[in-house]
Amino acid sequence: MLTPVKFHGIIKLPSIAEYSHHWHWLYYAFPAAVLTTCLVVLATVSLPGRVPPLMLLPAVTSRTEHRGGGIIISNYSCNIFKGKWVPDTDAPPRYTNETCPVLHGHYDCMKYGKPDLGFIRWRWRPEECELPRFDASRFLGAMRGKSVAFIGDSLARNQMQSLVCLLARAERPVPWANGSYIYRYERHGFSVHDFWSPFLVSAVETDPDGAGLGGRSGAGLWSLYLDEPDPGWAAHAGGFDYLVISAGSWFHRPSVFYERGRLVGCNGCLAPDVADLSLRHSLRLAFRSALRAAVGAPGCRSRTVVVRTISPSHYENGTWDGDGDCVRTRPFRRSDAWEMDAVQKEMYRIQVEEFAAAETAARAKGVRMMLMDATEAMALRPDAHPGKYRLWQPEKFKVSRDCVHWCLPGAMDACNDMLLHMLIG
Ligand SMILES: *[C@@H]1O[C@H](CO)[C@@H](O)[C@H](O)[C@H]1NC(C)=O
Ligand SMILES: *[C@@H]1O[C@H](CO)[C@@H](O)[C@H](O)[C@H]1NC(C)=O
Ligand SMILES: *[C@@H]1O[C@H](CO)[C@@H](O)[C@H](O)[C@H]1NC(C)=O
Ligand SMILES: *[C@@H]1O[C@H](CO)[C@@H](O)[C@H](O)[C@H]1NC(C)=O
Repeated sequence: MLTPVKFHGIIKLPSIAEYSHHWHWLYYAFPAAVLTTCLVVLATVSLPGRVPPLMLLPAVTSRTEHRGGGIIISNYSCNIFKGKWVPDTDAPPRYTNETCPVLHGHYDCMKYGKPDLGFIRWRWRPEECELPRFDASRFLGAMRGKSVAFIGDSLARNQMQSLVCLLARAERPVPWANGSYIYRYERHGFSVHDFWSPFLVSAVETDPDGAGLGGRSGAGLWSLYLDEPDPGWAAHAGGFDYLVISAGSWFHRPSVFYERGRLVGCNGCLAPDVADLSLRHSLRLAFRSALRAAVGAPGCRSRTVVVRTISPSHYENGTWDGDGDCVRTRPFRRSDAWEMDAVQKEMYRIQVEEFAAAETAARAKGVRMMLMDATEAMALRPDAHPGKYRLWQPEKFKVSRDCVHWCLPGAMDACNDMLLHMLIG
């Protein structure tokens, strides 16, 4: 089980052996007391004088104007999630494994020889405005005394790493260079945490070989407790100012569902007496439970809960566990008739619906909820996955072509451009 044991303000994670099937990290310190962050937040409120308002420029304004530092104050609002990727030819990589040694080999496509580095030379351009590039100093300045937790699967972690690398330009986090589940920006009193919780709710791999209860061979079978938010993160959620929640891909795995301790159905378990409710059921209920926990956690009253919608994978010419690959070298355009598959579309819709339901409840509790509707932007980037150009550890991760995660630097950085805009824009 991944539930950390808490003692004297430090959370000890399970042993390396238990954890090494995803990453190799051990400890993370927890901000001494959950309440400290909230008190600091209340005391510093919003730092109005120091934080320049976001430069949201009308479409016609040129980038050089905005690069020149001229602050254009505007109440022009725009949907940053609707747009297209445009060439950004002269932009240097936002970071490299030299400037950000915490960059994990899974995402370090440059190191592992991705032949066409064109994937870093695009920027997300909303239809009605510019989305400024991430400004690390500005973000850290606005986040003084605060903390953010990324909760979810390896794509949540992918975004967490992007943020850590982007911020490293302004301040080196501690720990540095060795990888961690928590990064502290001590000069700014800001910290970034990561909670591994790919189903968001309590989950146990009951049958790793998938041999029993009809699980597909080799795929493993999970027991999901759909009404029990994973205490690994939920017990700490109240201590954070910002929670960024994203999950989805693990729901494809064969699993059996429990509610109030009773077996209610499954996804792909192939057991004759268990109703196959598909991942539509588990995804919906897991999000419902997780968002309820994120909103209802006692603690910080000024909490913001961000839900990032699914990031689609891009296997073509085959399946993820077969010959599928992602070899395109440029983003899709609207005119390319590419669409997400029906399951991905439905997963997206479920997340948006559960977000909307939770938001109504959150408002009454004074918790702010924000939807990072990044699915379309990410769906347009078949060129930006590692494919075979990444650290490959077949003993841990059998898939030979990774068309799920995102190379760093790369498309995922745009999600943090969005995050900055959403949180302090
Ligand atoms: C800002 O809002 C004010 C009042 O709502 C409006 O008169 C003004 O035109 C707006 N400015 C811009 C740039 O949208
Ligand atoms: C960083 O990436 C370069 C290629 O871009 C590679 O040659 C180098 O070994 C990498 N450094 C580390 C520390 O991984
Ligand atoms: C990583 O760095 C931190 C802080 O410097 C240190 O406490 C920790 O033991 C290091 N972990 C590993 C695996 O080296
Ligand atoms: C799919 O396979 C065809 C034929 O081998 C190849 O020409 C094409 O580039 C492949 N497309 C992608 C996206 O992998």
